[in-house]
Amino acid sequence: MKQSLIIDCDPGVDDATGLLTAFASPDLDLLAVTTVGGNVSAAKTARNARILRQIARREDVPVYAGAERPLRRAPAGAGEFHGREGLGDLTPFEPVGPVAEGTAAGAIVQQVMARPAGSVALAVMGPMTNLALALRAEPTLAAHLGPVVVMGGARSEGGNITASAEFNIWADPDAAAEVFASGCRMIVMGLDVTHQVRATEARIASIEALPTASAKTAAAMLRFSQRVERQIVGWDAGPLHDPCTVAWLLKPDLFELRPCRIEVETESELTRGHTAVEFRVDAANADHFWATKADAAGIFALITQRLGEGA
Ligand code: RIB
Ligand code: CA
Repeated sequence: MKQSLIIDCDPGVDDATGLLTAFASPDLDLLAVTTVGGNVSAAKTARNARILRQIARREDVPVYAGAERPLRRAPAGAGEFHGREGLGDLTPFEPVGPVAEGTAAGAIVQQVMARPAGSVALAVMGPMTNLALALRAEPTLAAHLGPVVVMGGARSEGGNITASAEFNIWADPDAAAEVFASGCRMIVMGLDVTHQVRATEARIASIEALPTASAKTAAAMLRFSQRVERQIVGWDAGPLHDPCTVAWLLKPDLFELRPCRIEVETESELTRGHTAVEFRVDAANADHFWATKADAAGIFALITQRLGEGA
């Protein structure tokens, strides 16, 4: 049975590997890709998603451009980790396939509400602005959505954009707060788990050795991250953030989750975007599930296998 899925993202070099893996996965019915400003501008993330779609030969998947700025805060960026154009060293080009008519939020509402309740999953790989806008537009959306798998937040790992916060939540804390309070069933891949999934030299080389354009593109993104993580953070192997959302959808057993309640700091400048992950909850009625462990080798084996079978 295929899993129907919408991917909301801000490509972004790690978004790119997640998208390319999803494009190459026949067990996913990818209904749409929606994009948001985040790592780079909304115009660039929409173009980049179309570029990746063309490389993957998946012009059947519509790309909808989304929010150009957070609900309340000024637009942020993370270009130092993704390159000025958002796809590392890849020289951007104007893709053949157009952006779809309509907005990202409108597409999320339309695609989800047109199908049976619980049947459409959503993977969120960037700031949650589009999902927050969709929830505002359709109050029954939260109850109708399937699992919402989010890359965001931090608990025991501390932050990556500030001492307290992870970038996606920090970039639009108000949107994140609204989404976490909405009643959506959320699987949350925070830094606690993505920092366990490292793109080592051997893992990058395995992908690089594959013949497909999708694998070569993903490897180039991983190489770019390897270089900037070494330069900026001093890590020898960078964490693989966004593809963890797709990996969970494909093989949830690769992860361990804990039921919790997640709330977001939206007012303090010092701790803006902090995710308060409370495990002392009634597990039977929890909406949020925090990923605590990942099988890194299994995740890379899955991604490598899919990219090798892609276009
Ligand atoms: O903190 C990691 C997240 O921020 C990833 O989604 C990466 O693409 C950046 O957007
Ligand atoms: Ca991202």
